[in-house]
Amino acid sequence: KHVVGFSSRSYSAGSEVVMAEEAKKLAAYAAVDNHIQNNQIVGVGSGSTIVYAVDRLAERVRQEKLKIICVPTSFQARQLILKHGLSLSDLDRHPELDVAIDGADEVDASLTLIKGGGGCLTQEKIVAGCAKHFVVIADYRKDSKALGQQWKKGVPVEVIPMAYVPVSRTIARRFGGEAVLRMAVSKAGPVVTDNSNFILDWKFEHAQNWKEVNTAIKMIPGVVETGLFVGMAERVYFGMEDGSVKIR
Ligand code: 5RP
Repeated sequence: KHVVGFSSRSYSAGSEVVMAEEAKKLAAYAAVDNHIQNNQIVGVGSGSTIVYAVDRLAERVRQEKLKIICVPTSFQARQLILKHGLSLSDLDRHPELDVAIDGADEVDASLTLIKGGGGCLTQEKIVAGCAKHFVVIADYRKDSKALGQQWKKGVPVEVIPMAYVPVSRTIARRFGGEAVLRMAVSKAGPVVTDNSNFILDWKFEHAQNWKEVNTAIKMIPGVVETGLFVGMAERVYFGMEDGSVKIR
């Protein structure tokens, strides 16, 4: 196992935000160093942690002259790939990926994930599902024994816009809690995904059988995808507060 560390000097700023950013970078760099090799097709996730992974990937491509082809999971990922001058592809041309790397909002003890904090869950799940290996990178705040202990915003569910009210009611009736339409920060309207859909954030009340719930929610007409990733992640890299990397 590859474990790297920052010097304690890195923490002198003392802020939680600085520590979390450094933890994201640690996890991202370790995952890219351990899982990326020459001639690979790589799925590129979305969010803030993946930014560090693409930085490192671009650095290695430059320094080691690696031939890597990248498949994005979102508009943001596509922009990152282009910004770094990496080779951009898609699932039409490369439907089989060697590895996909992505962030997560919460990871439980059995590597079940909540994803979709950034609203990109559908394309993220498609790309991860096409990869031989799905590797997750996260800071220590995402590490959880059971879903809901760390991430308080609920499970994102992407829905066809016309169905958001019935889907929200059905989820609440069948599984408890509340499924709330995600609004833009400006509150001027709902968040619209890269697929022109809406997001419901399902604030569940108690632990569930996530595999069964994921399947059941997906069966509700109007649901496109859920942010529950069950049995998909193979390895998770957590950047820790003490500068180490925990691999699960
Ligand atoms: C976006 C995602 C992100 O991967 C997830 O929200 C983690 O983001 P960050 O790395 O910013 O914490 O699922 O839809």
